[in-house]
Amino acid sequence: MRIVILGSGRGSNAAAILEAQQAGRLGRARVAAIFADKPDAGILALGPRFGVRSEFVDPAPFKTKLEGEGEARFIAAVNSAQPDLVVLAGFMRVIKPGFLNAFVGKIINLHPSLLPSFPGLDGIGQAFRRGVRITGCTVHYVTPEVDGGPILDQASVRIEPGDTLESLAAKVHAAEHALLPAVIARLSERD
Ligand code: GAR
Repeated sequence: MRIVILGSGRGSNAAAILEAQQAGRLGRARVAAIFADKPDAGILALGPRFGVRSEFVDPAPFKTKLEGEGEARFIAAVNSAQPDLVVLAGFMRVIKPGFLNAFVGKIINLHPSLLPSFPGLDGIGQAFRRGVRITGCTVHYVTPEVDGGPILDQASVRIEPGDTLESLAAKVHAAEHALLPAVIARLSERD
């Protein structure tokens, strides 16, 4: 199963996927390429480190969504890597029908809360400020509804009285780093 990872940030989840692959914990999945919508995204440094194709793809003209020419460039780049699965790992753009229709049923997203609670931006901060005692992370299929597609799996994290936003974020990220490679491995071993 060829997977393509899309990200915008430091890429700790992409690193967790690549480390799982190296350790033989990614089932039959193999990372074919990494694409970022920011030229200086840390995730792009993983390419040389792990020997994987990694490229910036220009997302212009929009700032927060993937549509128009930028969407067409992403569709072409992702298609060129012939993916069986597209993994959004910290890709901070709203996906529109053009991209969804190009990869129907093949796109999954990682979100840092127990959906359907706290969709959208800053899922960790939203949960912390609301004062919930349990939050976590979710891997789900991507549909036109932002953070609203069918859930593949979740992991929970307890918010203890002494937790700060920073300590909570560290716990959620640790949960993500275990959950996402496990979901990919499971998907790769279907049928
Ligand atoms: C992760 O916490 C992921 O859940 C979140 O971005 C972070 C990326 O970190 N995604 C979203 O908030 C999507 N709405 P990383 O670049 O270190 O993998």
